[in-house]
Amino acid sequence: MRPEPNKDATIEHMAQPHLPLTARPRRNRRTSAIRNLVRETDLNAAHLVLPLFVHQSADEPISAMPGVHRWSREGLLNEVTRCSKLGIQAVVLFEATADELKTSTGDEAHNPNGLIPQTVTAIKSSLPETVVITDVALDPYSSDGHDGIVNPDGTIANDATVEVLCRQALAHASAGADIVAPSDMMDGRVGAIRQALDQQGYNNVGICAYTAKYASAFYGPFRGALDSAPRLGDKKTYQMDPANAREALRELELDIAEGTDMVMVKPAGPYLDVIQRFADASVVPVAAYQVSGEYLMIKAAAASGWLDEQTAIIETLTSIQRAGADIIFTYFAAQAATILNQQNP
Ligand code: PBG
Repeated sequence: MRPEPNKDATIEHMAQPHLPLTARPRRNRRTSAIRNLVRETDLNAAHLVLPLFVHQSADEPISAMPGVHRWSREGLLNEVTRCSKLGIQAVVLFEATADELKTSTGDEAHNPNGLIPQTVTAIKSSLPETVVITDVALDPYSSDGHDGIVNPDGTIANDATVEVLCRQALAHASAGADIVAPSDMMDGRVGAIRQALDQQGYNNVGICAYTAKYASAFYGPFRGALDSAPRLGDKKTYQMDPANAREALRELELDIAEGTDMVMVKPAGPYLDVIQRFADASVVPVAAYQVSGEYLMIKAAAASGWLDEQTAIIETLTSIQRAGADIIFTYFAAQAATILNQQNP
């Protein structure tokens, strides 16, 4: 017996007269199974990195980032456990430092018993498989709110900062970090950190460089979360001008020559062209960071009923991957993993 023809197909077949087309791209979109078969970009939780905030007090929601918390150490461990069950294998840690610990030289950044080293050790001892990435930069620890040490004349002391960053990376490595991620944009920091790590025997600790980090308005909610906004001036003498893409390739060349294991573009959504250039030019994996402001835009629009949150999350992450990102840092990591698990149980 002949199978019942599919109703839609019958309608198309009967629609006469028809255009003399040999190519009908819609044929590859006809059913969900065909769409799955031809999908070029397949988002999955293994490529997502969840940023987490830790502080010295109790768990606390962050008002400018609905759904995101400043965790206590125990709260953070529970969150990592919950997320690893969803398929999230990697986290990046940020500290909201108590005001009294902030100094102009950001010394708390390399305290071997500081909150980040303690948290790294705690995660690695209870969930050793989790990839623990740490942020290397001075802003959470700086009384000036800058990623580097501020000279008396207001300029940023590049080389003195790099020395402190090396100590910070070593404190993270000795606590068990898998990857250190310098987000400061000082010149020469990747090479210096690589050398410092190797000299101390941490040749297995990787570097994920924030290679093209733009001076962006989209970091606003993050700075609120850490209370880390610059007290004076802005970050335009070290973070890149949003107008430039060729310059990102120069940073890429340097970071690769200095031995980085991964390169990052940040923010992600507004810089898809830069991600694509990196994907074309880079011999190391490309990461992209969907930052706090990108997160907030979707959350705020969804909360007001103007956007469908789940669809917007998957669409933005898929677009970042389609542009060429191998790894995506996103506050939506756990939520995206939940959505993806529901779509492909
Ligand atoms: C600072 C740092 C920033 C972010 C990550 N590391 C902010 C900044 O440069 O001011 C932003 C992350 C986000 O907005 O989600 N070293």
